[in-house]
Amino acid sequence: MKAIILSGGKGTRLRPLTYTGAKQLVPVANKPILWYGIEAIVEAGITDIGIIISPETGGEVKAKTGDGERFGAKITYILQDQPAGLAHAVKIAQPFLGDSPFVMYLGDNLVQSELSLFLEKFNTKSLDALTLLCPVSNPSAFGVAKVDEEGRVLQLIEKPKDPPSNLALVGIYMFSPTIHHAIANIQPSPRGELEITDAIQYLIDDSSKVEAYQLKGWWLDTGKKDDLLEANRIILDTCLNSNIQGDVDEQSQVIGRVQIGKGSTVKNCTIRGPVTIGNDCHLENSFVGPYSSIADNVTLIEADLEHSVILQGAKVEGIHQRIVDSVLGQRAHLKVAPRRPKALRFMIGDDSQIELS
Ligand code: TTP
Repeated sequence: MKAIILSGGKGTRLRPLTYTGAKQLVPVANKPILWYGIEAIVEAGITDIGIIISPETGGEVKAKTGDGERFGAKITYILQDQPAGLAHAVKIAQPFLGDSPFVMYLGDNLVQSELSLFLEKFNTKSLDALTLLCPVSNPSAFGVAKVDEEGRVLQLIEKPKDPPSNLALVGIYMFSPTIHHAIANIQPSPRGELEITDAIQYLIDDSSKVEAYQLKGWWLDTGKKDDLLEANRIILDTCLNSNIQGDVDEQSQVIGRVQIGKGSTVKNCTIRGPVTIGNDCHLENSFVGPYSSIADNVTLIEADLEHSVILQGAKVEGIHQRIVDSVLGQRAHLKVAPRRPKALRFMIGDDSQIELS
């Protein structure tokens, strides 16, 4: 059994962060989203992993993630020259996959439940495809499956106006090598992509064994800001243990589950967990509230924030109003002059969103 993780794509919904970096490397609780997928796959006993990368962000994904040794896996990088669809990614991975059955995992997805349960069903029933489904309140926004009582998939519909069920397709699939034949027989969709849903529908119409597994826990697609913040909240809520390695002075208060990395200094601050703070940060006269992740080398002076993700090297100074539900990109600098400002000065990247409420 092998696995491929899709880490190419355009990432338009997470601009401007994705102008300069891969969305799959955006951290959730200070760990790249992509790494959660790698860890889940390795935990299920699959160690031969191909990662699909794009020409724009592939170098960064490779440099950060490495050859897989740190995960106990062997990683092969597969370049997709353009984001021509999920089924196109499988097509270009065929030389890596050979005749092996495989897991396909979208690199911006996070799921709670263990992959091994999913794998067991695929193997014991000798399926051609197994899709993972999750009940959602707004099925029209997703690919939706129509399933019979035995869990057989009858039909897949992309963003249906009149959904046949509330079961959305989660970005994790298992396939036997018959999927390659299906992909060879489909055409690009109206949006110009080779769609994996079309390839699975081809298998269904060809009487292949396609079944669904309903996810028990949560599932998050981190491709948008609010989903990213929600993923951060859930991971901090469920997985964070206290671990303070940096220096915290006596004037500071650290409450609840908090991690503070090596080389970080905290002076006269209140930190109310769950919060994770990376290495070499400097925090002074600040409040950091629940569900915040602060990456390495961040400076917070006279800052007040909660439920936010602050990326590496960012600086926030003199902002006494509470910053909430926010994502700050790498090296972003937010500063308010010590006296009440008469003017606001900005240098904001393309597609940035600023709300002065
Ligand atoms: P999507 O989030 O569906 O697509 P996208 O990355 O282009 O994002 P957006 O809609 O914001 O523009 O892709 C799901 C995952 O699959 C994501 O990790 C990117 C990856 N992917 C590829 O590797 N190759 C592709 O051709 C496509 C379409 C996606």
